[in-house]
Amino acid sequence: MAASPDSGGLAAALLLAAGSGERLGAGGPKALVPLAGRPMYQFSLNAFRAAGRIGPILIAVPPGHTGDFADAGDATLVEGGAARSLSVANALAALDAGDSDCDLVAVHDAARPLVDPELIDSAVELLEASPGVDAVIAAAPVTDTVKRVGAGGLVEQTLDRSKLRAVQTPQVFRRASLADAIAAGEPENATDDASLIEAAGGSVVVIDSPSFNIKVTVREDLAIAEARIADRD
Ligand code: CTP
Ligand code: MG
Repeated sequence: MAASPDSGGLAAALLLAAGSGERLGAGGPKALVPLAGRPMYQFSLNAFRAAGRIGPILIAVPPGHTGDFADAGDATLVEGGAARSLSVANALAALDAGDSDCDLVAVHDAARPLVDPELIDSAVELLEASPGVDAVIAAAPVTDTVKRVGAGGLVEQTLDRSKLRAVQTPQVFRRASLADAIAAGEPENATDDASLIEAAGGSVVVIDSPSFNIKVTVREDLAIAEARIADRD
């Protein structure tokens, strides 16, 4: 196959912005909610543009909202699906249709506006340097003690915190591993894409990520993200 402009060790970015933002309750898609005066998705889009190891960027957008992403520049807009991993599947299909030769794909929540370009590049580089590994995923140490609780609130077990991680995005995958895991698994039920790789028997490695790389989920998270942006800029 002839080399396309994507070649040269760059990963494709799949930015997930197709959710409806029910828990935020803003009355419209979360990715479009203003954060420090700009639509939220612009922050993670800019971080991916600033990363040195990222080539083409595809954004999964809420069906019917393509026109609201007119400021996405040269990113490719793809209609998302009914669940996050179905949005990933649609973006992968668009990557195939575009004849991209990227072997790696970096999946990221548009709802994580504080992601650093350095973390994106480090995750891509760790996967490249890890033969036999299918995915490298950002994860933060857990600071609370976590207990498993059963019926009636009865504590069943205190988990070993040193072995626990709170999983975030970016999650960088070997493109073929992710496509196979989605085809073989239950993407409609997955809360993160790496769990599909695990279910398919693949191997997933974490890379340490700062706890400030939060997902904006409820209204209070907007103020936390805005404070961090104000500190940073
Ligand atoms: N996402 C997506 N397609 C879906 C569902 C979610 O692209 N069908 C994206 C969201 O846009 C978000 C990320 O996946 O960037 C993480 O999902 P979440 O925080 O759950 O966002 P929403 O689904 O929008 O929020 P909620 O669950 O509160 O409705
Ligand atoms: Mg959701």
